[in-house]
Amino acid sequence: MQKKFCFSEAHVGLVFGAGRGIGLGIVKALVEKTDVKVHALYRNEERSSDLFEYYKDNTDRIELHLCDPNSESSLIKVSQKLTSIDFIINSIGVLHDEKKDINPERKIEDCDVKSLMELYQVNTLISVLLYKVFKNFFKKKDPTLFSSVSAKVGSITENGLGGWYGYRMSKAALNMFLKNVAIESSRRASNISVVSIHPGTTVTNLSKPFIGKTSYKLHSPEEAGANIIGVLDDTLTGKEAHFLSWDGKTISW
Ligand SMILES: NC(=O)c1ccc[n+]([C@@H]2O[C@H](COP(=O)([O-])OP(=O)(O)OC[C@H]3O[C@@H](n4cnc5c(N)ncnc54)[C@H](OP(=O)(O)O)[C@@H]3O)[C@@H](O)[C@H]2O)c1
Repeated sequence: MQKKFCFSEAHVGLVFGAGRGIGLGIVKALVEKTDVKVHALYRNEERSSDLFEYYKDNTDRIELHLCDPNSESSLIKVSQKLTSIDFIINSIGVLHDEKKDINPERKIEDCDVKSLMELYQVNTLISVLLYKVFKNFFKKKDPTLFSSVSAKVGSITENGLGGWYGYRMSKAALNMFLKNVAIESSRRASNISVVSIHPGTTVTNLSKPFIGKTSYKLHSPEEAGANIIGVLDDTLTGKEAHFLSWDGKTISW
């Protein structure tokens, strides 16, 4: 019989991209709404000052790890410090960068191979590395969870607007990876719920340049974190990955 992953039965989880934005919102929601121990992984000290501030009042619930998620050896070092994990949530992602080397493309002439490769590296391949390095932690009878924050614009079915080639393609590729993980893990008798989650339009550095005229509902990172935890709770394990929106609705792949 298929089991469900529940935060109330989990003990330990990892959040990647915890330094700021939605990742930090997820850390806060886990601390405030569950009893789990949170391993918060961040890459850059300067950009993670809000995480450090929050950590000061929650040292019993959070363990901080500096880690480069692009590096397999850096991830292996973290994995060697841990004895058990019930879930991983990866909130790392990129749409544009500070140096303006990466910008959402409006037309094919805007597509630059180096930028596209970087989008794949961050939005797709980091999740691949995470599952590869931590997969043995998921070999347990109790339900576990592997989730990456994706985006609705990665839906192939729902793409009616076009544009944003690199971001859309890299999130669609992330979704395909997650579908594969669910199938492979069920063959290996692991009990994982695999979820690609759309956080909703959330006010962070990633979205700020694009939300001026949006008609979508805007969320704070804290609201997005709480929504994500609510939606991930009680998801079915098994060979079918889920693509879910912040409001609990299913998105077409
Ligand atoms: N905000 C939205 O409206 C929205 C909508 C749909 C989907 N999403 C998705 O939500 C997730 C979180 O985004 P956010 O809005 O919280 O953005 P954010 O505030 O810009 O945070 C991005 C996170 O990704 C990490 N990151 C960026 N480039 C990286 C790289 N090259 N290597 C390693 N880590 C890197 C950042 O770490 P550093 O601090 O070290 O740079 C940070 O933790 C992303 O997957 C994004 O695609 C966001």
